[in-house]
Amino acid sequence: MRIGVLTGGGDCPGLNAVIRGVVARAERLGHQSVGILHGWDGLLENKTRELGRDDVRGILQRGGTILGTSRRDPYAHANGWESVRSTLETNRLNALVVIGGDGTLRSALKLSVEGDFPIVGVPKTIDNDIAATDRTFGFDTAVQIATDAIDRLSTTAESHDRIMVVEVMGRTKGWIALYAGLASGADEILIPEVPYDLDRISREIERRHADGHTYSMIVVAEGIEPPPGSSIELPLDAFGFPRLGGVGYTIASELERRTGFEARVNVLGYLQRGGTPTATDRILATRFGIAAADAIHDGHYGTMVALRGNDIKLVSLDEATAEVRGVPRALYDDAGTFFG
Ligand code: F6P
Repeated sequence: MRIGVLTGGGDCPGLNAVIRGVVARAERLGHQSVGILHGWDGLLENKTRELGRDDVRGILQRGGTILGTSRRDPYAHANGWESVRSTLETNRLNALVVIGGDGTLRSALKLSVEGDFPIVGVPKTIDNDIAATDRTFGFDTAVQIATDAIDRLSTTAESHDRIMVVEVMGRTKGWIALYAGLASGADEILIPEVPYDLDRISREIERRHADGHTYSMIVVAEGIEPPPGSSIELPLDAFGFPRLGGVGYTIASELERRTGFEARVNVLGYLQRGGTPTATDRILATRFGIAAADAIHDGHYGTMVALRGNDIKLVSLDEATAEVRGVPRALYDDAGTFFG
């Protein structure tokens, strides 16, 4: 078989480990892998390159994706369908491994169902919000980076008696904020799943400072609603998702106004997606890649590889893209034990 491999949507630490897993396993099983360059763009514009075992040596620990990626919905383009078809035929591709998040996997589902093309999906996102899998690779790395950053910001905050607001990624879900906040002992964690109360948080900050604590660390997920009275202009991306970022500034200025303590903001942004994946993410991504190649070999199309407990399972792409998964309230309440 000739198996296309595509990475779509935002990049994520561990993508190269998946590509390496797919290509190495496919070769062992007697198949040829073909890399699709720059996500769906490569299928729209016929940009591909054959990949053998030697092409994927030394990439396990590299961040980003050797194939490139893009945020493009192929079906939002004129003749998108025909262009994708034509590239699949020109390259004599029999199946595709699509490595992506919510938007990319939904396009993959369309191609699988409406285009009747053999596809296996691999869930990718630092946000950890794909419902059908217990974990996505990239999440562990993003949490570690955010935790390291918060640890560092604590020492500068305490020297100045400041409120430090750290904004982390995660889109509409608060996984990164919750995990990084828990791991770093944050004084408050604000996530989109749970409404926040700035009056209560301000009182806690005042009490902390009155008790002699020299700073307050507030971790904010980028997807929370801004406080009443403030708003942020958010442009939309190709899949119609708002491009988030900056809500931490509105929280910081409200807290400064209410408490009188100086506040500073750090938006960690793309730092959370860059650089080498953690060992945990390398292993999960490698297992996903191997399982995806096996699924293609065995003819289990229209599926996505998923982590369930410690096992890799196949779930339907349909189920995988049906909903996104938020932080359970009980887990947030556990974190609340340490607030204030
Ligand atoms: O979905 C992953 C993610 O990093 C989100 O956490 C973030 O909101 C978004 O992608 C940023 O997207 P872009 O790369 O298009 O700026």
